[in-house]
Amino acid sequence: MTSTEPSGTDEAVEIDLEAARAVVPVAGRAAHLPTYNAAFPGPVLRFREGDRVRVRLTNRLGEPTNLHLHGLHIPPDVDDPLRLVADGDTTTYEFVVAPGSAGLYWYHPHAHGRVAPQLFGGLAGALVVDGPHEPLPEVEHVLVLKDLTLAGDTVEPHDADDWLNGKEGDLVLVNGEREPSLASVHATLRLRLVNACNARYFLLAVEGHPMTLLGAGIGFAEEPSTVESVLLAPGERADVLVTLARTDGVPLVALPYDRGHDMSGMDSMAPGHGHHGGAGGRLGNEAPIALATLHARELAPPPDVPTRLASLPDHDTAGAPRRRIVLSEEMGAGPVRFLLDGRPFEPGRIEFRARAGSVEVWEVVNDADMDHPFHLHVFPFVVLTRNGRPEPVRMWRDTVNLAAGERVELLVPFDDFTGTVMYHCHIVEHEDRGMMAMFDVDDVES
Ligand code: C2O
Ligand code: CU
Ligand code: CU
Repeated sequence: MTSTEPSGTDEAVEIDLEAARAVVPVAGRAAHLPTYNAAFPGPVLRFREGDRVRVRLTNRLGEPTNLHLHGLHIPPDVDDPLRLVADGDTTTYEFVVAPGSAGLYWYHPHAHGRVAPQLFGGLAGALVVDGPHEPLPEVEHVLVLKDLTLAGDTVEPHDADDWLNGKEGDLVLVNGEREPSLASVHATLRLRLVNACNARYFLLAVEGHPMTLLGAGIGFAEEPSTVESVLLAPGERADVLVTLARTDGVPLVALPYDRGHDMSGMDSMAPGHGHHGGAGGRLGNEAPIALATLHARELAPPPDVPTRLASLPDHDTAGAPRRRIVLSEEMGAGPVRFLLDGRPFEPGRIEFRARAGSVEVWEVVNDADMDHPFHLHVFPFVVLTRNGRPEPVRMWRDTVNLAAGERVELLVPFDDFTGTVMYHCHIVEHEDRGMMAMFDVDDVES
């Protein structure tokens, strides 16, 4: 995996990305994929808090695309996913990396209706923001988890069922490689993981070793927590420490995870079959999948992790405006529809207005038969409760998974920017098919 280092502090950091087909090695084969800068995954973009950044995207894909900097707190009109870059054109995304936003993010296309094939084909990369001081000096590995299915020397196209379930690839790759080896001399590895898959979930575990969860990409959690596994839904990130107790190589695996009802065949079904038609199967991996092998050259005790990693603001939620957002699937005559608040996405339609400077509490409900990861652009949120129970540790996120029937309460501060903001399911086929919406953040009360 290549890396793009910023060049200076006073000048703007200039990054050039070209989206174009290229031949790249994938699991021992030469594959013809849509890429950023002829790399799969795309180069790691590395910025510092406070950097002024100019990313120039040139499109040579032969079809429209654009660039979304997933999770970054940047002005909505810079993010603007409705702005397309035509084939042959170049567009610049210019912004300042927000102070306090140190963390792990990623980038991918957001051209409505085309996200799923473009992302599945390989248009994705990690983005790291470094803070003024990193409290954890351990060897860091940035891992982009991305699956792919090749057909001949190119990407397998989506079929009808992929557009319902979300497309999972049979090659499960870490930074474009199958089961790479990751090493640390001092026994402790800091794994910074991105799930850049369209629809594959990873219930991550390090065989026989607990992990210390530090955060979900945006800064650190308030406190570290010891966990046996971490669920990484599409779009999510995890920042974990693991101290190896063996020197012979320890597998990082994706444990079995059931992500809900398989909808295969449902697009062509007669009405009346209801929710339990289709193949009747379940989605997700039934057997563990080996992702990588972790190696320590010598053993050492775990490092001292501060008991307090961050302080999140204490917002008074008593009088906060509340909203309810429902994710659902609709089966009837005609194709299955994926809906937000009972209707499909319509570009430009504004669902509601939030006031700049306010804090809101959103109740997000999954009223469907499979997991849907809910994602909000521009404004990070804190999960307050899940199914009525308070979350054990507070941390900033931009994506939260909801299993079928679940509900979460989110604290959403609209601190500085105004503009039009997107929210959607991050199984990108669902996003492309309409499980997406937009709202406005305004200066004036409405
Ligand atoms: Cu990573 Cu709107 O997406
Ligand atoms: Cu995003
Ligand atoms: Cu979904």
